[in-house]
This record gives sequence, C-alpha cells and structure tokens, in this order.
Amino acid sequence: MIKFIIIAILISLISCKPKWTQLQNYTFEQYVRDFQKEYKADSEEYITRKKIFEQNLADIVAFNKEDHSYKKGVKNNTDESYFEKKEQFSIFKSSLDFQVMDPSTENSNYIYKAKGLTNLPDSVDWRDKGVVSPVKDQGDCLSCWAFTAASVLESHAAIAAGSGNLKTLSTQQLVSCVPNPKQCGGQGGCFGAVADLAFEYISKYGITSEFKYGYKSYFNDTYECKFDPLKQSPEVFNQGFAKITPNDQQALLEAVATIGPIAISIDSTGWDSYEEGVFDGCDYSENINIDHAVVLVGYGTDPKYGDYWLVRNSYGTEFGEDGYIRIKRESEPQCGIDSTPTNGFACGGDETPIKVCGMCGILSDSSYPLKVRVIV
Ligand SMILES: *[C@@H]1O[C@H](CO)[C@@H](O)[C@H](O)[C@H]1NC(C)=O
Ligand SMILES: *[C@@H]1O[C@H](CO)[C@@H](O)[C@H](O)[C@H]1NC(C)=O
Ligand SMILES: *[C@@H]1O[C@H](CO)[C@@H](O)[C@H](O)[C@H]1NC(C)=O
Repeated sequence: MIKFIIIAILISLISCKPKWTQLQNYTFEQYVRDFQKEYKADSEEYITRKKIFEQNLADIVAFNKEDHSYKKGVKNNTDESYFEKKEQFSIFKSSLDFQVMDPSTENSNYIYKAKGLTNLPDSVDWRDKGVVSPVKDQGDCLSCWAFTAASVLESHAAIAAGSGNLKTLSTQQLVSCVPNPKQCGGQGGCFGAVADLAFEYISKYGITSEFKYGYKSYFNDTYECKFDPLKQSPEVFNQGFAKITPNDQQALLEAVATIGPIAISIDSTGWDSYEEGVFDGCDYSENINIDHAVVLVGYGTDPKYGDYWLVRNSYGTEFGEDGYIRIKRESEPQCGIDSTPTNGFACGGDETPIKVCGMCGILSDSSYPLKVRVIV
C-alpha cells in the first residue's frame, strides 16, 4: 500500500513535455507544470499568458490536423505571442526597393563547383558511418557558428583518419578565441559570428578537445580566451576552407554526398514549434531571415513527405527529431530575399539584401574545411 502511494506521488510529481499527439485536451495548468513556469495563479500575467497559450495551442492543434509535411508541438515559448517572438526581426522590405546581391565567396581558398555527378546515392546520412558526434546544446549563447564549425571539423577529421578518431572538439575555444574584426554574423563570441572564421582560426592555431577546454558559455557569457597550446594541445588542424557555389543545389548535393557534413546558414525563424517531419514553413514571399548556422549531415526521401535535407541543430536532443530537423528539398529550388543579412552571414553593417535559394535559404552559404588532419 505504502509502495503504491509513493509511486502515485512520484507519478504526479514527474512532469514531462507532451508529444504533438497528446495535445487534444492539453491545458494551460498542465503546461505551467510541465514547463515549470513560475506564474502566480490568477495574477494578471497568468491570465495573459493563459490566453496567449490557448490561442497558440489551438493554432498548433489545427495545424497538425491539416495536411502538412511536419508537426508542431508545445514548447517553452508557446505562451509568448507571435509578436514577442518576431519583434527582433526587421520588417521585410519588398525586393523592388533595392538591389539584390548574390552571396560572396571572395574569402574562401577554393570554390566547390558542381561537377554534374549523376551517380549520387538516393540518400546520405553521415551518422551511419560513425563520423558524427552526439548533438550539443549551445544554451543562451549565440554560438551556433562555433558548434557548426566544431561538428563539421569532427566529422571531417573522422572521415580523414577513420571513425575511431571521432572526437568532441572544443566549442569554447572557438567562442572565446576566434576574432571577428569585421563583425561577420555578429560581434563575435556569444554575439554571433560565422563558421568560416572558425575554419580560418583553426588553420592557424588548431583546435583542442572539449575535455581540455569545456563549454561554459551556456548562460550567455563569452569569456576571455584561455587557450594555452602547451597545456591544451590542439588535436585537429585544417588548412583553409572551401565555399560551395551559393544557391546551387547540385553543388551542395554533390559536396554533402562525396565530401562530408557541410556548414550551412539558414532561416530558423519558424523552427520554434517544429517537432517532427519535413519542414516547409519558410515563405519565399516574405523575408528569408538567415539567422542560424547548422550542419548539413545528408539528405533523403521520406515515404510520405518527400525529399528532404537532413540538418543537425545545436539546441540539444529535445529539439525536433533527436536534435535534428529535416528541411524540404525542392526539385526546382525557389529563391527569396534576405533583407536582414546582418542577422546571418553578412559582415559589419552591410545591409545590402542577399538573394537566397532553397527552403529557408538552405543553399545560400555553405562551406567545409580543407586538408583536415588529426594530431595524435
Ligand atoms: C478529450 O476530451 C473529449 C471530451 O472532453 C473526449 O471525448 C476525448 O476522448 C478526449 N480526448 C483525449 C485524447 O483524451
Ligand atoms: C522558459 O520560459 C520562461 C518564461 O516563460 C523563461 O523564464 C525560461 O528561462 C525559459 N526556459 C528555457 C529553458 O528557455
Ligand atoms: C545574451 O546577452 C545579450 C547581451 O547581454 C542579451 O542581449 C541577450 O538577450 C542574451 N540572450 C539570452 C538568450 O539570454
């Protein structure tokens, strides 16, 4: 009897986040428990949040009933209004107002151009080869660029030296030490940068392992560079990096199929509620707000939802499909305009709009490190 009571109490204490299939009769009260919200019952905030939550929940349930290629779920910010989530993004200006730039490849050491390969596999997932480390969590810090660079380098090192050499490399070294004088993709560290800067830095200094220089920027502090090559001997070097011809689907497909995982830039604005499936929620007629760096780990075809790109994120394994998201891969990729390029990979206040192609601009900015070698 006592055992039973204890188990009953334990069950009532354990809260867990609901799956999208469990939202039919989900309530705000349950949400407050599941996500450990600290709203005082019946306070003004409670009432406001409840109203917003119920509207968002109704939208999510309605969306999931419709015929979409992906499902939405309840997340920590489902009690925030659309405008709160969007307020950091500038308003889209119509493409007619200004000149549109093609993304630049000027700083790369090499440009990967499509070779017209016709014998590519139907699907690629580098995880199957044992050359992709577990998904990480960047926390509150805008260090997606560092996680992307480290993850791509880990995979290329393991491809070069054998999967027994799959390492976990130090993202903290990148966050704290990679200079960003031209303010590309942000002001550096936890204020954002781009993976290419990390590839340039590692060409000079190498990168040590997570175990010798662990990640501590989770709570949004960049910290001073504390890299001492004598103590924290670097374990992997590259030598320069390659850009893939921007907005060329064939080139990106070939590169990820034949070379390895690729660092890419993407609009993640609509990913908040993504739970599973093939995401097609970016609208080409709106601003494509490239704001995130992630790793392209492969591609494939879902029997129900069609062709996708397989993308590794750095929001922990709770995000999406065990930390991954699948993005729609169109047979004829469309293009849109990023009129807020400094949220993405543009440098130092260069607000010239950029033409970006593929769902969420997935084809716009791709790169990988060259001549990767493991120092044992
Ligand atoms: C939700 O509630 C309705 C009526 O309150 C009930 O008929 C239905 O079975 C419930 N659905 C689930 C999934 O619990
Ligand atoms: C979840 O949202 C609350 C506010 O609603 C915020 O205080 C908290 O930091 C968020 N937690 C995470 C893990 O994002
Ligand atoms: C991180 O810090 C910056 C600057 O202090 C702040 O603007 C930003 O909102 C913080 N981000 C999070 C997720 O706390």
